[in-house]
Amino acid sequence: MPFDALRPKVTTILANDSESVEQRLTEVCELLQATIGYYDWVGFYFANEAERTLHLRAFAGEPTDHTVIPFGKGICGQVAESNQNFVVADVKAQNNYIACSMYVKAEIVIPLFKDGKNVGQIDIDSHMADPFSPEDERFLEWVNEQVAEIL
Ligand code: SME
Repeated sequence: MPFDALRPKVTTILANDSESVEQRLTEVCELLQATIGYYDWVGFYFANEAERTLHLRAFAGEPTDHTVIPFGKGICGQVAESNQNFVVADVKAQNNYIACSMYVKAEIVIPLFKDGKNVGQIDIDSHMADPFSPEDERFLEWVNEQVAEIL
């Protein structure tokens, strides 16, 4: 499991305050996508509370059309309202799902809390069926806690 080896790398990237937050978030996405075989697309969305929309701020993988997602729509939009992790073993079994690529089989979305408030999320798509375990959830919760420190 590469998660323990990834933690110090994530910490180092996020601590580099000579770069913008966007650059650092992009590097974290690239690191995770390049290291974990079943992480095919990795992105951070952040909430605009007034408009009740999520906005893509950094990603690694294929560009997506879904750079703005209304609260309540898709897996991401549901997590904006539920404040809960959402692990989707099979995207075909979801009726409130926004398809980004025909290759995606599974998805995990973990909310990102700043001062106790759900301000965004990390979203990962996988081309593998049912690849995510509680270890992914614990690792991605940890990543989001580290990101919250630089927001
Ligand atoms: N599948 C997501 C949309 C974002 S893409 O995965 C990049 C959803 O249903 O919210």
